[in-house]
Amino acid sequence: MKEDFGEDFQWGIATAAYQIEGAVHEDGRTDCVWDVFARKKGKIRNGDHAQHACDFYHRYEQDLEMVRSLGFGQFRFSISWSRILPEGHGTVNQPGIDFYNRLIDKCLSLGIEPWITLYHWDLPQALEKTGGWKNRRIVEWFAEYAAICANAFGDRVRNWIVLNEPMAVAGLGYTTGEHAPGDKGIHHFLPVVHHLALCQAEGGRVLRQLVPNARIGTAISCSYVYPNSTSAADVRAARRADALLNRLFIEPALGLGYPKDAFPFLSNIKRFMREGDREKLKFDFDFWGLQNYFSMVVQHSYLAPVMWLKEVPATLRNVPVTGMGWEISPVGMYEILKQFQKYEGVREIIISENGAAFKDSVVDGEINDHERVTYFKRYLAAVLKAKQEGVKIGGYFAWTLLDNFEWAHGYSARFGLVFVDFNTQKRTVKESGKWFRNFLKDSKM
Ligand code: GAL
Repeated sequence: MKEDFGEDFQWGIATAAYQIEGAVHEDGRTDCVWDVFARKKGKIRNGDHAQHACDFYHRYEQDLEMVRSLGFGQFRFSISWSRILPEGHGTVNQPGIDFYNRLIDKCLSLGIEPWITLYHWDLPQALEKTGGWKNRRIVEWFAEYAAICANAFGDRVRNWIVLNEPMAVAGLGYTTGEHAPGDKGIHHFLPVVHHLALCQAEGGRVLRQLVPNARIGTAISCSYVYPNSTSAADVRAARRADALLNRLFIEPALGLGYPKDAFPFLSNIKRFMREGDREKLKFDFDFWGLQNYFSMVVQHSYLAPVMWLKEVPATLRNVPVTGMGWEISPVGMYEILKQFQKYEGVREIIISENGAAFKDSVVDGEINDHERVTYFKRYLAAVLKAKQEGVKIGGYFAWTLLDNFEWAHGYSARFGLVFVDFNTQKRTVKESGKWFRNFLKDSKM
């Protein structure tokens, strides 16, 4: 089956700095918004925190050897902004740069291609203090940070992802407050969206200028949205959800503007736009990273002012779900790929994350996570179907290598192909990891 994807198809595994590194106060790193958030009572399940996480900061060599032994040729990781710039901007912390140099060099020595994500949600707290993503100055700060990374790592790293899931930052971080910095309020939504969208394009420009031959993308979450009924109100609600979840960050970059047609509320974003911004939102990305886990059913709701919609949870719909109650929907993956293929300006799609959390248990030293194996098989079949029908998909990244700090869920949700015992940091390859090893066996690297 792997052969069906073609020789050039890139198989990878994705991670994020904050979820695995630990060592949060080592070698000059300062707090990011998640360190502060995790110290607040009741924000993270079981009071978990990421001070040690998977201790990847010290164990990256063995962990990368494991990536190699599982057969993946591509490794996606993110850079912790506050390791590089403890104040968010200004003075560079050389030990932070050194760590990522060691990590990149280790990848290369193993024949693994490194993929850098510049921003995977861990904003330096120093910047949050001055408004974080609400403050338009974030565009300058982000450009400075991107340039430092480009200059430090661009000689060896060709693949770059500017932002990871900006919608989660705007929606969960600054609107519902479920994620760091937990700054709740619908009035934050539009300015934060606009600043993220500006940074998305600006990061692309900085990389284009400083890294010759860079392959530049950015990663967005996406979910195929179904209306709960054929009623006009539900169909309109589904279009609004689609605008928010799938169109909000890609369309301005492609020069199409924000998707106000489906969601008039978005026209208020003009209050935060300055002259020339429509141009500044554009960037011609080499690829779009799509991250898909589940599809969604929505209905109109009078109880939700502004959005006027609510999700019909999968758990109430009698459909198969993962351990987190997310609908298992390979057909949703297929549909969303077809949807993105319709954009003329999309050159290539990389599935930059896909995976599932289930309740794993260790029996006689083994983790037989057959549900996860089935999940991967079914989603990969959907990806293949879309590819065979002409969707330009160049690669697939499984989420993720290690069980890790799953944001507000703490350590309760395990997504890894490798089980981690958080008391001892012992790693055990799960059945799903072994399945990938077999599947990828013939991969030429
Ligand atoms: C994504 C996120 C990852 C990971 C994954 C599983 O939204 O980028 O960091 O947490 O979801 O929930």
